Amino acid sequence: MYKKIISNLLTRKTAQQLIDRARSGSLKKTLNAFDLFVIGIGAVVGTGILTIIGTAIQGGPESLGAGPAIVISMVLAALACVFSALCYSEVASMIPVSGSVYTYCYATLGEFAAWIVGWVLMLNYVIGNITVASSWCGYLTQLLKGFSQYLPNFIVNCPIWLRSDVRSIYHMCDKYGLDIHDKIPFLFDKIPFAINLPVIALTLFSTLILIKGIKESTRFASIMVGLNLFMIISFIVVGAFYVKPENWVPFAPNGISGIIMGAFIIFFAYIGFDAVSTAAEETKNPQKDLPLAILGTLIFCTILYILVALVLTGIVPINQINSSAPIAAALTLIKKDFLAGFISVAAVCALASVFLICQLASTRILYAMSRDKFLPKILRAIHKKHRTPHIMTWMVGLVIVFCSLFMDLNISAELCNYGTFTSFIAICIAVIILRKTEPNIKRPFKVPFVPLFPILGIIACLGLMVYSLKQLTTSTVMFPLWVLIGIIIYFSFSYKNLRN
Ligand code: ALA
Repeated sequence: MYKKIISNLLTRKTAQQLIDRARSGSLKKTLNAFDLFVIGIGAVVGTGILTIIGTAIQGGPESLGAGPAIVISMVLAALACVFSALCYSEVASMIPVSGSVYTYCYATLGEFAAWIVGWVLMLNYVIGNITVASSWCGYLTQLLKGFSQYLPNFIVNCPIWLRSDVRSIYHMCDKYGLDIHDKIPFLFDKIPFAINLPVIALTLFSTLILIKGIKESTRFASIMVGLNLFMIISFIVVGAFYVKPENWVPFAPNGISGIIMGAFIIFFAYIGFDAVSTAAEETKNPQKDLPLAILGTLIFCTILYILVALVLTGIVPINQINSSAPIAAALTLIKKDFLAGFISVAAVCALASVFLICQLASTRILYAMSRDKFLPKILRAIHKKHRTPHIMTWMVGLVIVFCSLFMDLNISAELCNYGTFTSFIAICIAVIILRKTEPNIKRPFKVPFVPLFPILGIIACLGLMVYSLKQLTTSTVMFPLWVLIGIIIYFSFSYKNLRN
């Protein structure tokens, strides 16, 4: 009986089955290293460097900040990415199918691991989107302040409990010594209440667009990438003239602990590499171009991020860094209001598009999981007119709105990081297993030094994950809880449904 269950849990789809499925819609090989590089930058540069950097430098409610030593944290986070990114390239060029790491796990570790990895992946796309939305809301607030002369007061100075979450408001009151009762209403005199209306509006807007159907255009994506890079580079160039080196002292106010926690938090800014590797099938010369683009993106982002960090910590004393829109607020501080306004506009547009794309990705992965019978059939219902998975899209939107009531930007980013670490570890294990179980399948790109490189990837990710799990409290409870909910769903529904 137990043997049977265990063999069921390990049921695999063979790599060949997946490849055959992918061949049925074979894609044109048109991309070169530069195109991949643009895809990489587009997926990677975003909320992390625009907002999360503030928490990584200054510390959050539960984490120590790295201070100006964030530059070292950034290098550590990049190192944790590089091995997993190479592993992604090997598997993606060998089994070029959609569904990301969830699908690869199905081919290597079996059905149960695939479900858990897919479920944890939702932390990236669904819960991670709360981080994107909160960051978007921070820049929107900053932008509206710039129009205070033209807009009604109730919009510009909207009470904080209508545009934030309870946890962030508590943290703000703690930080500035304010009375919480002046900032937030209490239901029945006991329960603090806050609702983020801009986040709800963004989610509703994105859900409706996705249901109507969106054609992702690379042109739209490249405009957003260009805008993003332009605003970040403008910040570096203009801000550099206002740097006061005395702000870099002390360099590492919280020592090694601060640097490692900083690396864990800023890791969010590096997430997005799987986007490069998923384009493997459409790449002209994957063996050369994939590692070039991946390493190029990593090196470029690390340098860009280090420059932003040096300028930000050089112009704003650490304890004055604004945690919701640090880049724009820093420019306001040096009286560059026009540029601050421009950055806020660009950030609001860029982050809204990131939000939309993440919601799209989450519905598609969940759709794949539902097609594989892990989730109820109703969730993959297709809208009659628009031909999109509308019920799934609504469900994802509702989960985002619901979770945004009690999760702040930091918790959602931490959970998203745990999700990514788990999938990075899974992909490193997948490479080692596939080399043994499927030695003959053509690999357009091969990770050098297997199993050393995948093992180094596992150690780096596991190390950062375990260290931060010991430091943090809320997400340390929430992450295992999320996994537990996944296990309960699997055994109470998916296991039986897969065998019907
Ligand atoms: N790296 C992506 C960002 O920072 C997830 O928004």
